[in-house]
Amino acid sequence: MNDLHFIGMEKGLLYETIISTENEAGEPNAAPIGVICKDKMKIVLYLYDGTHTLQNLKLNPRFTVNITHDPLIFVNSTIGDLSTRHFEKYHDNFYIKGADAFFTATVKSIKEVEKEDKIGKSVLNIVKADVNDVVIKEKNFQPLNRAIFAIIESLVYISRIEMVDNTTASIYSHRIKEMSRLVNRVGGVEHKEAMKLILDHLKE
Ligand SMILES: Cc1cc2nc3c(=O)[nH]c(=O)nc-3n(C[C@H](O)[C@H](O)[C@H](O)COP(=O)(O)O)c2cc1C
Repeated sequence: MNDLHFIGMEKGLLYETIISTENEAGEPNAAPIGVICKDKMKIVLYLYDGTHTLQNLKLNPRFTVNITHDPLIFVNSTIGDLSTRHFEKYHDNFYIKGADAFFTATVKSIKEVEKEDKIGKSVLNIVKADVNDVVIKEKNFQPLNRAIFAIIESLVYISRIEMVDNTTASIYSHRIKEMSRLVNRVGGVEHKEAMKLILDHLKE
């Protein structure tokens, strides 16, 4: 049976996916959501209050995690509503037709926690879920993890930092530190090691 490791998801890493759920009226909804791989068949989501995704999961615990790199699916499901023509059904779950792969999952628990960050206080819902079926549609795809992109962006800044004026250099340095926070949140051991080398170089 296919599992998350088989589709390239590693324990502890956070992947950017599109989650499809079903609302009260039986209509599909899609939203970009980060999925943390906890085990071969276990995931965790962190959902902010007020999302349709959370609302739908409280009504119907079954959902689909779609793996895609399609920029228009990401944009259209964030800024607007992805039109119903993008969806198809697998058993009782909506999935996105253009996805490279998808897996169905069932919510096991939802726990509310209060979070405080730069933006202020907000309620975060920790959703634990079990994976049911994993379906691969395209060969040679990879789940989307942002760590490598943050490392590449940081390297581009590092390679230019000595050529620019002090103000620009401090903007670059600030951006690299932001990238480092991202890598620590979503990346694996090697990503974190690579980012540490970049930060050490920045200090020199
Ligand atoms: C790449 C990406 C990742 C996101 N990850 C999350 C997440 O993990 N949790 C969350 O609550 N919102 C996340 N968001 C924001 C939601 O996708 C956004 O609030 C969306 O409008 C929710 O749609 P919905 O109301 O249809 O559920 C993410 C957005 C993007 C672009």
